[in-house]
Amino acid sequence: MSRLDSFIRRMSAQRDLLDHAAGLVDGVAGPVIELGLGSGRTYDHLKARLPGREVFVFDTLFSTVAIDQLPDREHMVLGDIRDTLPFCLPRIKLPAALLHNDIGAGDDTVNAATEAWLAPIVPGLMAPGGLVVTSFTMDLPGYELLDVPASIPAGRYYLYRAPV
Ligand SMILES: C[S@@+](CC[C@H](N)C(=O)[O-])C[C@H]1O[C@@H](n2cnc3c(N)ncnc32)[C@H](O)[C@@H]1O
Repeated sequence: MSRLDSFIRRMSAQRDLLDHAAGLVDGVAGPVIELGLGSGRTYDHLKARLPGREVFVFDTLFSTVAIDQLPDREHMVLGDIRDTLPFCLPRIKLPAALLHNDIGAGDDTVNAATEAWLAPIVPGLMAPGGLVVTSFTMDLPGYELLDVPASIPAGRYYLYRAPV
């Protein structure tokens, strides 16, 4: 498979899972946490799929996002997520209905290191029944690992639901 094919498959899988999660989260109140602004693709998609929900984005930088598509200052948390995420509840005000973890790397060792500090923070931020979409597996005690749509290649993305 060419790198272009692989990229397209990865983006399609990510979109399919975000759409699926957006449908499942219907009855769960709360904002969305987006980890990794990057070029703003999934931030923009989540805003489009979940109109009326606040989306709070975490990243160290603004990257290549067009100036008119940046989150406003209230919804953009600049800094290392490891430092900022544990302290974000006063900013996001309510526990999150959906958390999208898009800070995974193409390296299992790096992902394991990220998972080790990220997973313990997540449960304290999630609403009952809230969903976690992530590009690597996470140790979230009591969370249910849900099936993902058939269009998503095995091992590419994972979906967890917080206990109710
Ligand atoms: C794959 S990109 C996100 C892509 C984005 N969701 C999109 O659709 O365009 C990963 C982003 O996570 C950010 N990131 C990774 N680790 C981080 C950390 N520990 N703290 C803050 N930002 C981090 C990087 O700066 C990068 O912008």
